[in-house]
Amino acid sequence: MTTQTILWRGHPLAFTLGDTVAMALTRAGIDQYGTRLTGLDAALFCGIGQCQNCLVAIKGQGVAEACLTLCEPDLAVSPVREAPHD
Ligand code: FES
Repeated sequence: MTTQTILWRGHPLAFTLGDTVAMALTRAGIDQYGTRLTGLDAALFCGIGQCQNCLVAIKGQGVAEACLTLCEPDLAVSPVREAPHD
């Protein structure tokens, strides 16, 4: 079986068919997705598309919720805003 990957900040992360971006990031131990406009960390919170706390930049698609966006091979994902400590 071939491992499929998304690209988080240009680095490949494995995913399983049906995973959301948040699931792939969590499985890789990534729990902070940059910084929100408020200065707070962007991260998984509600997991159902309601809080907008998990917004990430999807190349070619703009900004989307990591908890709702399904992984696709080579999908390029990055923080909307880098955290100062990244
Ligand atoms: S975690 Fe709330 S919208 Fe994604």
